[in-house]
Amino acid sequence: MREDDLPAVGEIAAQLHPAYPEDGRIFAERLQLYPNGCLVLEMNDSVLGYVISHPWRHRQPPTLNSLLQILPVRPSTYYIHDVALLPTARGLGAVTQLMSRLSRIAQDDGLLTLSLVAVNGSREFWSRQGFVAIDDPALEEKLNSYDLAARFLCKDLAAS
Ligand SMILES: CC(C)(COP(=O)(O)OP(=O)(O)OC[C@H]1O[C@@H](n2cnc3c(N)ncnc32)[C@H](O)[C@@H]1OP(=O)(O)O)[C@@H](O)C(=O)NCCC(=O)NCCS
Repeated sequence: MREDDLPAVGEIAAQLHPAYPEDGRIFAERLQLYPNGCLVLEMNDSVLGYVISHPWRHRQPPTLNSLLQILPVRPSTYYIHDVALLPTARGLGAVTQLMSRLSRIAQDDGLLTLSLVAVNGSREFWSRQGFVAIDDPALEEKLNSYDLAARFLCKDLAAS
């Protein structure tokens, strides 16, 4: 992802995540803080999808639409903030390739887990990618900033 991809990323986010609105400055901040974990899927010069991810603190998912300011000095998980593909880019195996790439980035950073907040009814999809739900009452307030069905999921890279 480059800075000039940000308008397209914002449009895809608005289209696919209308219930979880985030300002453009959130995407711009993630790209600035951790460009390695911000990727776009491009076909014929059009951006058809993106992922935003970065090292983070385990079991402390950021509140929706919040700036991080800085990344932790000692991160304890690799956090996937968002993955979104337009319908034309789905079913092509992009996510499987993406997960291998993110797992490698995490492991290169010495991180042994991937984690994310599942929304949009995507929990089953993530289960098939090897993620399991962590039910922790301490997470409730953060998760409720997404919606009442949001779940915190984690994948143990040492087990895969
Ligand atoms: C989630 C997403 C990236 C998956 O990409 P994809 O290329 O469709 O992934 P795959 O082809 O590997 O797997 C698709 C399977 O997961 C299912 N699936 C994907 N997203 C789902 C969702 N939000 N809810 C329920 N099922 C979903 C599909 O129905 C499909 O099932 P099938 O294999 O039985 O047909 C894409 O569907 C997407 O961008 N969705 C909208 C944004 C979103 O919900 N992101 C996740 C938020 S945490």
